[in-house]
Amino acid sequence: MSAPAGRARRVLAATAVAVAGTLAVGMAVAAPSAAQAGPTLGQLAAAKGRYFGSATDNPTLNNSAYTAVLGSEFGQITVGNTQKWMYVEPSRGRFDYSQADQIVAFAQAHNQTVRGHTLVWHNQLPSWVNDVPAGELLGVMRNHIANVAGHYKGKVVHWDVVNEAFEENGARRQSVFQQKLGDGYIAEAFKAARAADPNAKLYYNDYNVEGINAKSDAMYNMVKSFKQQGIPIDGVGLQAHLVLGQVPSTLQQNIQRFADLGVDVAITELDIRMRTPRDAAKDAQQAADYRAVTNACLAVTRCVGITVWDFSDGHSWIPSVFPGEGAALIYDEDFAKKPSYWAVYEALGGTRTTTTTTTTTSGNNGSGCTATYRVVGQWNGGYQGEVTVRNTGSTATTGWTVKWTLAQGQTVNSLWNGTVTTNGQEVTVRNANYNGAVAPNGTTTFGFTGSSAGANPIPALTCATS
Ligand code: XIL
Repeated sequence: MSAPAGRARRVLAATAVAVAGTLAVGMAVAAPSAAQAGPTLGQLAAAKGRYFGSATDNPTLNNSAYTAVLGSEFGQITVGNTQKWMYVEPSRGRFDYSQADQIVAFAQAHNQTVRGHTLVWHNQLPSWVNDVPAGELLGVMRNHIANVAGHYKGKVVHWDVVNEAFEENGARRQSVFQQKLGDGYIAEAFKAARAADPNAKLYYNDYNVEGINAKSDAMYNMVKSFKQQGIPIDGVGLQAHLVLGQVPSTLQQNIQRFADLGVDVAITELDIRMRTPRDAAKDAQQAADYRAVTNACLAVTRCVGITVWDFSDGHSWIPSVFPGEGAALIYDEDFAKKPSYWAVYEALGGTRTTTTTTTTTSGNNGSGCTATYRVVGQWNGGYQGEVTVRNTGSTATTGWTVKWTLAQGQTVNSLWNGTVTTNGQEVTVRNANYNGAVAPNGTTTFGFTGSSAGANPIPALTCATS
């Protein structure tokens, strides 16, 4: 595997910087990496024994900016549309895997697991299924499952076997399957899926079942009875198409009660929509919401992973289905990481750092320094940062200066182990009177807290010694 592009550092030649009354000429300045050089969400999740994935759809596979992120950031892919009945069995007995196969091949080429979605669902169901006589529908459903799960045998780690079979009040949805086959159709679907691919984990998947309510109670009772009867079910999928500021308070408790029944739980279609346009306050709330969902999953061992329902706001189903709402994902339309991305990143144990090097190649004392910025923590409206100054020169420093720009309206309020001055957006931190002397290759660290109303990207730093 090649190193991430972000690791490459661009060297800007011959930048002259005035430092503490002396002029250091001929400094080489390395720009901060544009991309995060650290681990991906997929890698962070894997380190916690989970996956972090994204749904995707065929049209976007032609967009190279999109696939660059899809192929690198995620450990898992869900086929967003083209494994649904209308695509794979558009007419009775005629199966077409051409589109879904492209997505599965993409995932395999990028070492990503695949969640299969979905075998039996009332939506995106070709109309011919509605016309199947009641006496033939069980055979048609079994044949569909045998073909589709059989085609992807060994290539799909989870199957959403049945999707959205309950109403909000916990009653069975009156789909064609329910009407013609009765309550037993779900168990029949799971048995057929097990027979077709014995190694795939078999999931029941639904929405508005994230918290404890009448619908999730119905799902709970079904799973419990399947377990008692030996119906092969391995997991439940909580879709988690959520609304800004409305992560259910019982999410973790609900995940736990399913785990206690002996099934896995997956967050299968996460997005958190807001009224558009975005603003900093909504972004901050969304980040808190994504953090809460991630933490709830991490708190329960049997919560095996999280999938976002596509990753970029430009490729989300939300605006077309919920007019006036959107911006529900973790990357913006231009594939820039949003605060919600960083909230997941940090919740999964990632630490945000960047290093900017300003090396004195000729100066008054042969010293130089690097400054490494780390977001220690971030919360709704504020953050804590930390900067480590390293002496890269051959003689001890007598003082150092680190500067950056607060580009998104952030502030630095309280700072320790340094002396801060701000001038508009410019922050300048000089050593305190006790930590200006840093030995060659030694370090000293200062910290601070500040406010951030929304985006709080890692700034580029300059560092100079005296
Ligand atoms: C959505 C897709 O994202 C859209 O492109 C499509 O038009 C409709 O279906 N619950 C599910 C998903 O289980 O299959 C749905 O996906 C979103 C809601």
